[in-house]
Amino acid sequence: MTGAATGIGKATAERLNGDGAAVVVNFVGDPEPADELVARLTGRGGSAIAVEGDVSDEDAVAELFRRGTEAFGGPIDLLVNNAGVEAPYPLVDMPLEEWNRVLAVNLTGAFLCARETARALIAASEPGAIVCVSSVHEVIPWPSFSHYCASKGGMKLFAETIARELAPHGIRVASVGPGAILTPINHELVEDEDKRREVEEQIPWGRMGEPEEIAAAIAWLAGPEASYVTGATLFVDGGMTLYPGVT
Ligand code: BGC
Repeated sequence: MTGAATGIGKATAERLNGDGAAVVVNFVGDPEPADELVARLTGRGGSAIAVEGDVSDEDAVAELFRRGTEAFGGPIDLLVNNAGVEAPYPLVDMPLEEWNRVLAVNLTGAFLCARETARALIAASEPGAIVCVSSVHEVIPWPSFSHYCASKGGMKLFAETIARELAPHGIRVASVGPGAILTPINHELVEDEDKRREVEEQIPWGRMGEPEEIAAAIAWLAGPEASYVTGATLFVDGGMTLYPGVT
């Protein structure tokens, strides 16, 4: 599980671990949130380890999978590609570094982790699943976030393409498309009442989502009840993708 220390990643790690999965809590930067999460999971009897690693770095991804496999044995049979970053920049002000950073983490990171997962599962002739945490912005254009939208639109066709490639190997690939969720990535919305109201007006369900509501969809997509689901995105967005002219 990439980007697992906070937000949707944290809620999903908790959910999957509660359902019995051993979880590799990948994070970058401050180790405290990841360590706290692992302590909580192991404290309640679950198996979990924290592993630092930038998903856009090929060597770091190899090391992440090596440590996960070493800790729990066998190939990792479920990858949740969750690590993601965003920051607003109108096109004319977008620095190349910012464009590259968002594409590197959100899209290249998903590719590197999917490749590692698929290689190990195919070598072991074992089935598995890859769940990508995409966004409503794989279909909704969002001004000032062209890099983010490009990464999520790219993720959509990447996931669909590898779903075709990996189906003969018994590896399912599915995406969840969250709308506006109460997580640290959205701290500005959460803290600014006017902005939040504006966004909530674009959500037919009338409120932002909880990370646990995304975690539940990921758990379903990853599990046996979704055995015939591959190449699809399940939007969990309170109807945001239905709103005409939404930004
Ligand atoms: C973004 C959020 C945004 C939401 C709806 C998500 O993918 O991470 O920042 O609020 O889409 O626009």
